[in-house]
Amino acid sequence: MSNLMLDYQQRIQAVLDTKLNNLDVPERLRLAMRYSTLSSGKRFRALLVYAAGMAVDAPLPRLDAVAAALECIHAYSLIHDDLPAMDNDDLRRGLPTSHIEFDEATAILAGDALQTLAFELIASQSSQLSDGQARSICLKLAQSSGQVGMVGGQMLDIEATDKQLTRAALENVHRRKTGALINAAVVCGALCSDTVTDQQLIDLNSYANSLGLAFQVVDDILDIESSTEELGKPSGSDVEKGKSTYPALIGLHESKKLASNLYQESIVSIASIGDNTQLLKDLAKLVVERTK
Ligand code: IPE
Ligand code: IPE
Ligand code: MG
Ligand code: MG
Ligand code: MG
Repeated sequence: MSNLMLDYQQRIQAVLDTKLNNLDVPERLRLAMRYSTLSSGKRFRALLVYAAGMAVDAPLPRLDAVAAALECIHAYSLIHDDLPAMDNDDLRRGLPTSHIEFDEATAILAGDALQTLAFELIASQSSQLSDGQARSICLKLAQSSGQVGMVGGQMLDIEATDKQLTRAALENVHRRKTGALINAAVVCGALCSDTVTDQQLIDLNSYANSLGLAFQVVDDILDIESSTEELGKPSGSDVEKGKSTYPALIGLHESKKLASNLYQESIVSIASIGDNTQLLKDLAKLVVERTK
């Protein structure tokens, strides 16, 4: 972790803490929403929002709102991903998963509430976004997290269980279930800027697409190579559950080569967007060098 990353990790932690504090909701729901969102995640999607936004001069208060929204959607996706009806995992970020700590109904509702809170954070006046920006960001986030993106990808992931997919089909699953939200983090961060150009958006979009696929390829690799303690989630879960993964389809060596090529692609994509790209570069590196 670079110092820059640590600074923004602390920043988003404080922002999330505030946004998830003054909620007029049943106490059990509030606790479950806080439990899954504030636990020790890498905050990779929030960091991408800040990194992309700062690269194109977006104001920080807007980035705070959008980064918090991305982490809410991400936390919701993890809560539902771990449910018995889905991956049936009992450990997440080193803690019992939401349905174990609370119960299934509470976990489902906490996920639902985090999803709608994300859109509320963006649409609210306090985001300081213009109406046009709030609308484009809501649209992008809805498309990336919904049936075309993450939710659709999760459906394909479940359908692919105990099956051998073609490489193109597996890439489609990964781009949707994980890549789409990572893409949204980058693009929505950039959309907070009043001056971002079409070319900058195109470049950031390709950066994010390469990185989004790399992120899930590495997640698949770590499920085999890292330990439960390091990951904070059950290692070996994919093999046990017959998941379609890159290592299962093309082997560990080829999967690592792919991740490294995607990393290179992502760096090349942002070569001409401007000077303030250090955090974007640090985050791309984190994707391939991380151990959790
Ligand atoms: C895990 O995401 C789920 C995937 C999309 C692979 P992260 O690895 O970003 O999880 P946290 O937020 O750090 O816990
Ligand atoms: C999860 O993929 C993608 C999501 C949309 C949450 P995984 O099922 O591989 O994520 P982990 O390994 O449980 O974090
Ligand atoms: Mg899953
Ligand atoms: Mg899972
Ligand atoms: Mg995984």
